[in-house]
Amino acid sequence: MPRYSINNQRLNQTLQELGHLGESPTGMDRVAYSPEDILGRNYSIKLMQEAGLKTRIDTAGNIIGRRTGTDDNLPAIAIGSHTDTVPKGGKYDGALGVMAAIEVIRTLEEQGHFTRHPLEVINFTNEEGTRFHRWLVGSRSMSGLLEQEDLDAVDDDGMGLGPCLADIGGDMSRINEAIRGPDELAAYLELHIEQGPYLHQSGNPIGVVTGITGRAVFEVEIEGKANHAGTTPMATRRDALVSASKLILAVQQMAAEQEICRVSTVGSIRAIPNAVNVIPGSASIGLEFRDTDMNALAAAEQELRRITDEAKVNEEVRIDVQRHRFTSSVPIAPDMQALVAEAAENCNMTWEPLASGAGHDAQAVANIAPVAMIFVPSVDGISHSMEEYSTPQDCANGTQVLLELLLLADDRF
Ligand code: HGY
Ligand code: MN
Ligand code: MN
Repeated sequence: MPRYSINNQRLNQTLQELGHLGESPTGMDRVAYSPEDILGRNYSIKLMQEAGLKTRIDTAGNIIGRRTGTDDNLPAIAIGSHTDTVPKGGKYDGALGVMAAIEVIRTLEEQGHFTRHPLEVINFTNEEGTRFHRWLVGSRSMSGLLEQEDLDAVDDDGMGLGPCLADIGGDMSRINEAIRGPDELAAYLELHIEQGPYLHQSGNPIGVVTGITGRAVFEVEIEGKANHAGTTPMATRRDALVSASKLILAVQQMAAEQEICRVSTVGSIRAIPNAVNVIPGSASIGLEFRDTDMNALAAAEQELRRITDEAKVNEEVRIDVQRHRFTSSVPIAPDMQALVAEAAENCNMTWEPLASGAGHDAQAVANIAPVAMIFVPSVDGISHSMEEYSTPQDCANGTQVLLELLLLADDRF
């Protein structure tokens, strides 16, 4: 039996309240650094403070709520996730992990239970990476994994990261102060929705995450020749959007048919001047490859460059392949997996091992601390969509296991 019971109704109440912040008729729009994101951030700070946590915002904009332990010299055990969303996203991706972490603290407060380790609830900034095409910015800042490209990144309007950080209480000029040493965190434990179909299909309420996928992101710029849509003969056209379209299909086939990597996606496209009576002079597409095997991602990049070189010759267009970022896959240590399984069993819940096709802050924090992840079912496996849904019971189950996992980690580390 679990040592303490979380409050199911209270947890789901906070999830629903957060789900109205940044909500639009087409989904959640708490894109990092936006006014909508700030609404969600401020809500999490309010809840953290009401739960008795001492809150601060680090120079990377991460929100950290701290609770003392009976032995405050021990490294902290951290629990959390992120409240930023993709555009038109769902109410549970990241949000569940932050709301659950705060519910765990509320429950310990109510029970008058103080852990040996100090505890930290962390709401990581910009996990999704939508605006600057670079994800896990807050957790990579904390883990010493930021690169110069992150600092130099500009959004589609040419705005840099600095002013955005200032908007949320961060400070670009001191961003390195967010880095935590390897002795500061005893463990990082993250509850997250699966964002895939497997738990919903199997009926297991808990997933023990075995590893987190690697990811390679590219932007491909294609230059053809703008011309009149009515007067230009077909044979003389250099249509950037036609070249982009061929490339989109080729990228999809790299995973779907050639099986070079597990999945490949072209998620964004721009045509310029984007006017129906003008042959597009230029086009750009944003794409990504994912696999737990980094060699597969290297092979995917090699194939991408081969097909773009071919297109340059065959279609007389100029193509520039920009590599945005490679994120390494991260295995979850067997002893950390075993701790999650034990926590699920202590809560009388069945579980199954599951690899994560989604990226998570835990894969960055793994650079400075042992990490573990708990998954709960996503109905029909839908995520990054307003149809994303996890039942109140599944959200409560995950939170209960998170509390038990935290207590086991406090006993063992
Ligand atoms: O894109 C992902 O895998 C995560 O949801 N950020
Ligand atoms: Mn997420
Ligand atoms: Mn996401």
